[in-house]
Amino acid sequence: MRGLVFDGPGEVRLADGLPEPRIEAPGDALIAVEAAGLCGSDLHPYLGSEPAGVGVVTGHEAVGHVLAVGAEVVDHRPGDRVLVPFSTSCGRCTNCRRGITARCADGQLFGWGPPAAPATGLDGGQAERLRVPLADTTLVAAPDHLDVATAVLCTDNLPTAWEAVARTGLVPGGAVIVVGLGAVGLCAVATARAQGADRVLAIDPVADRRARARTLGADAALPPELAADAEPVDCVVEAAGTTSAQGLAVRLTAPGGRCSVIAVQTAAAFACSPVEAYDRNLTLVFGRASVRTTLPRVLAALAAGQLPSPAPSCVTHPDVPLIEGPEAYRRFAARHAGVVKMLLRP
Ligand SMILES: NC(=O)c1ccc[n+]([C@@H]2O[C@H](COP(=O)([O-])OP(=O)(O)OC[C@H]3O[C@@H](n4cnc5c(N)ncnc54)[C@H](O)[C@@H]3O)[C@@H](O)[C@H]2O)c1
Ligand SMILES: [Zn+2]
Ligand SMILES: [Zn+2]
Repeated sequence: MRGLVFDGPGEVRLADGLPEPRIEAPGDALIAVEAAGLCGSDLHPYLGSEPAGVGVVTGHEAVGHVLAVGAEVVDHRPGDRVLVPFSTSCGRCTNCRRGITARCADGQLFGWGPPAAPATGLDGGQAERLRVPLADTTLVAAPDHLDVATAVLCTDNLPTAWEAVARTGLVPGGAVIVVGLGAVGLCAVATARAQGADRVLAIDPVADRRARARTLGADAALPPELAADAEPVDCVVEAAGTTSAQGLAVRLTAPGGRCSVIAVQTAAAFACSPVEAYDRNLTLVFGRASVRTTLPRVLAALAAGQLPSPAPSCVTHPDVPLIEGPEAYRRFAARHAGVVKMLLRP
């Protein structure tokens, strides 16, 4: 099988002749990948800011068709088009039953080997085929009309952004500030509007990304140095992950407000002291999104027209051949102008 393999920081390689994924457990499904996203989260191991085992097939955002299912899978059949949330979930453990499927007791992240090499983690979707454990309680059926770019956003960035905004406690008519306008932040601008935000301010150093935020409904888009004096609001999403972005997001959260930190955390400290949080009655919310739980709400909002798909403004490269994957990683990591979201096609 052909796929991309993580060989260590800065090194993602195209490999042919990878072991063919197969049904290993009765709850597994085997997927023929239609497209897989390249995400800011892929950059943490790629840039060496998060440890990951070498040898794993990369990618955690996949859309595809079911090829085969194990004996216990009842909800999906060969030929079905499915969305693969970026982590697996059992649907039965305490966390899953509370909707925190991101922290399923048996959950695994696609495309993430644990730090000990060689990797023993779950192979990812930047490949021709993908094994999905716990298929009935992980996969979500993809509506036929869903275009592939929106479908890939539905496996991570769009429900992640929806959840990030919901965690701010936004009520219709409120104001939202989004710090960081990668695919997650751009989707947060769109989902803030869909969840009833009356005003949205978007912040990013990259002019091209600010322009995209405007097309997705931001009333204003500023570079960080001009945003420091903006009026604080109750609802802030931090989707950049740098120390300066964290500091800005906290500064722009009004007393009593909620700062929803959706960026993956890789450092030992956060840019806000307990004293500052106490003195301004701030609520800081962190954590991985529970895509399996949130995705049905997002699909309903898309179907109802409440959420126009952000894909046209945010998926800049919908058709990158898998063979160009290593170069796509280099361009994405270098933040080449005009590159926001890339889809790899096997
Ligand atoms: N919690 C979750 O479940 C979850 C899911 C998906 C992604 N993520 C994380 O969300 C983050 C964003 O992902 P992405 O794919 O959009 O990444 P990305 O790297 O494409 O985007 C980050 C953006 O932040 C901007 N930025 C950098 N410094 C800034 C500053 N000081 N002020 C404002 N903006 C600044 C960058 O210019 C860039 O546009 C990453 O940390 C990713 O790992 C978390
Ligand atoms: Zn992702
Ligand atoms: Zn579970």
